[in-house]
Amino acid sequence: MISNDIGLAAEILKNEDVIGFPTETVYGLAGNIYSTKAVHKIFRIKQRPLHNPLIVHIKQIEDLDTVAIEIPELAKIMAHKFWPGSLTLLLKKHPDVPELITAGHETVAVRIPNHPVALSLLHQLDFPVAAPSANPFGSISPTTPEHVDAYFKDELPLVLNGETCKAGIESTIIGFKGESLVIYRLGAISKEEIENVAGPATLYNKEENTPEAPGMLSKHYAPKVALHLTDNLSESIRKFSDKKIGLLVFRQHREDQNSKYQIVLSPTGSLKEAASKLYAALHELDAMALDIIIAERFPDHDLGKTINDRLERASKR
Ligand code: TXA
Ligand code: MG
Repeated sequence: MISNDIGLAAEILKNEDVIGFPTETVYGLAGNIYSTKAVHKIFRIKQRPLHNPLIVHIKQIEDLDTVAIEIPELAKIMAHKFWPGSLTLLLKKHPDVPELITAGHETVAVRIPNHPVALSLLHQLDFPVAAPSANPFGSISPTTPEHVDAYFKDELPLVLNGETCKAGIESTIIGFKGESLVIYRLGAISKEEIENVAGPATLYNKEENTPEAPGMLSKHYAPKVALHLTDNLSESIRKFSDKKIGLLVFRQHREDQNSKYQIVLSPTGSLKEAASKLYAALHELDAMALDIIIAERFPDHDLGKTINDRLERASKR
């Protein structure tokens, strides 16, 4: 059930159940971090392996030291600069944070979401909420309440309505190694924006199945239909000419293709707009009974990097 009732959502969370939770990035599956029952339900309905930890969402910066300890100065600077917002910090965990949340890691992932409905809900609670993206493990993240409802109609008592997510792509995850800053997952805040504040950052991008930040799993964010990522649209269209193709392009509509099966993410060439519409476009194309989705590679800077990261993972089989 999709609902605007924030009070009811808070009651459900206090009763240790799980809800669909709007944030500015993507929708989450939210539960009380201290409730084993709620957190187990999140893992179960998402079909997420227990070794893959969850992000903790807090309502205000003052609560940070209830979930993390030994917070580096640079982390505080980043938090003050970007919170509420789409930046997740990996910090040393507070002993009170259940191991189930951090999957036994020494670190906890934490952020303050920048969404009025999410913040108003968090302010009605005296605990933080754990929220992974509200999609079954490995599939496309949800950016509307309808996406969440379609995935989890039978399992969730309520999906809190926060309309369409503004950023539409997950938070950027950063951690700290000595003096340096490491980006573990590219996201809604670009590498360039982070470096403008923190100086040079390194990108952690090890392609393996048990990576340090499991958000870096190579196959992820995948539609059901195969996705082919290309630098050369014309050549790829030719190569798959015997197939029913769906096209996902940045700004330029292809006149030679059926526009019914074609999504232009930003006619004005805005990477931010393209990022915000990416998942909704993949959901839409996935519902069209296509043989293949051909996606154009984006310019490799700013949010184009994040979009390419997601398209690459979506293209892995
Ligand atoms: O934008 C977002 O971050 C959304 C919204 C709902 O906040 N959440 C989200 O959660 O994307 P999820 O679980 O789909 O992705 C979080 C990633 C996972 O890959 C997880 O493995 C990693 O963060 N992560 C969480 N806690 C961690 C920890 N303690 N150490 C390392 N990686 C962690
Ligand atoms: Mg996810």
